[in-house]
Amino acid sequence: MDKFPKHIGIIMDGNGRWAEKRNLMRTEGHKVGAKKLEEVIEYILELNIKYLTVYAFSTENWKRPKLEVNTLMKLFEKYLIDNEEKFMKQNIRVCITGSRNNLSDKLIKKIEYIENITKNNAKLVLSIAFNYGGRLEIVDSVKKIIDEKLEITEENISKNLYNSFIPDVDLIIRTGNEFRISNFLLWQMAYSEIYFSKLMWPDFTKDELHNSILSFIKIDRRFGGIKC
Ligand code: FPP
Repeated sequence: MDKFPKHIGIIMDGNGRWAEKRNLMRTEGHKVGAKKLEEVIEYILELNIKYLTVYAFSTENWKRPKLEVNTLMKLFEKYLIDNEEKFMKQNIRVCITGSRNNLSDKLIKKIEYIENITKNNAKLVLSIAFNYGGRLEIVDSVKKIIDEKLEITEENISKNLYNSFIPDVDLIIRTGNEFRISNFLLWQMAYSEIYFSKLMWPDFTKDELHNSILSFIKIDRRFGGIKC
């Protein structure tokens, strides 16, 4: 068990293609994707993983058609409302990682409310990257360091990230059969292992999660050093 990843990050890609293949609107894919997230959190809890970060909306996603952006905003708010009771019952602390710029006041209030009521929950930290960009997070961190007149060091950059108490990500899973990082956790993934899954996010399974963890366990992580 101590070879298990402590922090898993998931790039939930492929909702749009999943829907298009079924002649559905892309937004239908996101709806099924949101349900899939609920299911995957159950598996993560079973495995006693301590930190999960999921990529739900990037700073670049604003470029999508208005209908898709609005659907993702509403879906996220609905997700927080619908799951409030579950977060408390399952002892899940929810943190929303990202910029609050351009989010509606209503959504910001909901985010603050959920973060506040779940702040003492301890089984799992669920970090939802929403309006998130890895580059922006680093820039925001450096700005805070400059404001506080501190030295620009790796330690200070790490300390000033959005949720600096969350450790670096051990394993990143990207679904959707594409092979890039898309501005996700750029600072925290310096030594992450990456598992690319062919499955579209709505088709993701418990078995595929287990496959990704098995491949992580088999890797000899050296963090730039050599095996003694
Ligand atoms: C990428 O698939 C996915 C997104 C941009 C949004 C992810 C959102 C969800 C899984 C559901 C909403 C989440 C919450 C927390 C309620 P894509 O649209 O880029 O798919 P494609 O590559 O097939 O076009």
